[in-house]
Amino acid sequence: MGTALAAALLAAGHRVTVWNRTARKADGLVEKGARRATSPAEAIGASDIVIVCILDYADVAPLLSDDGADAALKGRVVVNVTNGSPAEARELAERVAGLGADYLDGGIMAVPDIIGQPQAVVLYSGAKDAFEAHREVLDAFAGSVYLGADPGLAPLNDLALLSGMYGMFGGFLHAAGLVRSAGGNVTAFTTELLIPWLRVMADSQLPAMAAQVDSGDYGATGSHLAMQVSHDAIGDVSRAQGVSTDLFAPLWELMKRRVADGHGAESVGGVVELVHPREPRA
Ligand SMILES: NC(=O)c1ccc[n+]([C@@H]2O[C@H](COP(=O)([O-])OP(=O)(O)OC[C@H]3O[C@@H](n4cnc5c(N)ncnc54)[C@H](OP(=O)(O)O)[C@@H]3O)[C@@H](O)[C@H]2O)c1
Repeated sequence: MGTALAAALLAAGHRVTVWNRTARKADGLVEKGARRATSPAEAIGASDIVIVCILDYADVAPLLSDDGADAALKGRVVVNVTNGSPAEARELAERVAGLGADYLDGGIMAVPDIIGQPQAVVLYSGAKDAFEAHREVLDAFAGSVYLGADPGLAPLNDLALLSGMYGMFGGFLHAAGLVRSAGGNVTAFTTELLIPWLRVMADSQLPAMAAQVDSGDYGATGSHLAMQVSHDAIGDVSRAQGVSTDLFAPLWELMKRRVADGHGAESVGGVVELVHPREPRA
């Protein structure tokens, strides 16, 4: 990922200095015009903005203290796009601020191949002035989205987006199992039926459900929860077809529990109360 980010900066015409623990892996970037630093401190000292992208968040702080690196940080902006947790982001932001530098945490919503292309997005949180001052540099990677001053917002929203993605993958895998169990062509089913269906459902259902989660008013407009759980049609047919309900069952059980709790007339959006109760339980 670091190679893709540096290559995007070079392609956008920026002056780039690179450091990688295994130096030879930066050879391709040097051939494209990057300057090679022989230490993290030298790389940090070369530019106003320092992009950090390594495997583990826990290794970032030691890297930024390596042999004079911490002294070199003063007055610079650190943009750390290494994946971590909100708590790790807040801790590192404090440490970097203590060294006289601004901190932005970044969540890359892209694979290396699409860095620099319009569909790539990077989420940022932390020092707003630094984001605005260096926006043009950051836009070389992807569409840049600033989420707020709390450095933990980028990793939290990154993980929320991945959660949505894995939910969709889970739905796809169960659907694929059902279609295959009946001898169907999963590719045709997916492109001709499933993707258009999911697009319609996402556009027509998610904004209203999101508003319900925000307001706490889960009144059903069309399909109430009691109707949706009146028959375990997906479970029954899956079992009959030899398809495991392991992916679908957790959501199904929560929907049933919500009805048993007296919310059958409400919408499926109210299931969020079983995942994250708005009010702490007594
Ligand atoms: N790849 C993706 O699709 C993707 C997407 C979104 C976010 N990310 C995030 O981007 C980050 C990097 O991922 P990647 O795909 O580039 O992983 P990768 O291909 O495994 O590369 C890891 C990089 O981290 C360096 N590194 C590891 N430990 C280090 C340490 N202790 N000190 C200094 N350098 C160290 C490695 O250096 P060496 O070359 O010396 O081993 C290498 O440059 C991760 O946080 C990942 O979650 C990746």
